[in-house]
Amino acid sequence: MSLDIESIRKDFPILEQQVYGKPYIYLDNAATSQTPLNVLKAMNDVYNGYNGNPHRGAHYMSNKTTAEYEKVRDKVKLFINAPTREEVIFTKGTTESINLVAYSFGEAFVNEGDEILVSEMEHHSNIVPWQLLCNRKKANLKVIPFDDKGRLKVEEIPALLSSRTRLLAVTMVSNAMGVVNPVEEIIDMAHSKNVPVLLDAAQAIHHMKVDVEKLGCDFMVFSGHKMYGPTGVGCLFGKKELLDKMPPFMGGGEMIEKVSFSGTTFNQLPYKFEAGTPNFTEVIGLGAAIDYLNGIGINNVIAWEHELLDYARKQLSGIKNIRFFGETEHQSGVISFLVGNIHPYDMGMFLDKMGIAVRTGHHCAEPVMDHFGIPGTVRASFAFYNIKEEIDKLTDAVKKVMSMF
Ligand code: ALA
Repeated sequence: MSLDIESIRKDFPILEQQVYGKPYIYLDNAATSQTPLNVLKAMNDVYNGYNGNPHRGAHYMSNKTTAEYEKVRDKVKLFINAPTREEVIFTKGTTESINLVAYSFGEAFVNEGDEILVSEMEHHSNIVPWQLLCNRKKANLKVIPFDDKGRLKVEEIPALLSSRTRLLAVTMVSNAMGVVNPVEEIIDMAHSKNVPVLLDAAQAIHHMKVDVEKLGCDFMVFSGHKMYGPTGVGCLFGKKELLDKMPPFMGGGEMIEKVSFSGTTFNQLPYKFEAGTPNFTEVIGLGAAIDYLNGIGINNVIAWEHELLDYARKQLSGIKNIRFFGETEHQSGVISFLVGNIHPYDMGMFLDKMGIAVRTGHHCAEPVMDHFGIPGTVRASFAFYNIKEEIDKLTDAVKKVMSMF
């Protein structure tokens, strides 16, 4: 292990606080990750130094935010290996990115009787926008099931793809189970039938290398706040040939070429999809988060997080009557479990009082809970700044809660 976690943690002062008189242990990174000082500084620098509206002014501050904002587009392009910068669109997060595609791709390409294919393990944000589209267009939503270990039944995909399938949308990593899906194989299957693929990388972008050119996906979406950046910012990558054919999602400033009451024409990519004043401060913060991750090195992140995950699995496995959800060969970031008959909310509440933050409930993935016939799980999720001592404390705390029941 080549990461100096002690010095890394100094970049995240929030981790050093005490809660209820106990050292705080933050294991809810899949919901939102913590933000290093360089990200906070980058955003402070905007507000203290050059808070001007990008693309709109002829003055120093506007020109400076324009330059910094566009630099981040280049950074994201490199980070995800997008072929061109026009294919990188800033949004307010994964949810908005998927809604954008569901609306605009749907307007251009989906008609009555067509089909959209998603998986049973999607987050609600990769289900509901497609349901809205299907309702609007009288199209049908089809579902790829997973087995009781959480493995996606990819062998069923060929039969689920039909001449009416217009898009396959699938998560790279399940937020509820931590299962890593074989997306290369899924993309090959879909592309062999000329079906484009959207990858939800919200739980993947900070845990593994996401190279859109190598993967060959048609769309890829992620959020800033899960990858050590600020809230309210995210990205959509889309292939130019598709984005060019899609109508705008929202109307407003900057997304136009010419507006008149006899008709309006639209701006080029990427601006066609960035209506209104963009969240430029957060975009600039996202750029700093990419710098931070690049500084650590994704391979170091992968190695340490795998070590943490294996350790957590081993430690928690020793607990009587523990049941894990997501037990495939490839897992990432998340351990989801229940202990005996203890309700996940009770477990979460007691852990919180011991200074340990986990997420409990359905994790916005109710179909996953329905699959197992449970109300929810307890989910511990890890970041590169977590340490094994925190996992030991989690394990002890879970045992203590058990002893109370
Ligand atoms: N989607 C986030 C999670 O899984 C909020 O917790």
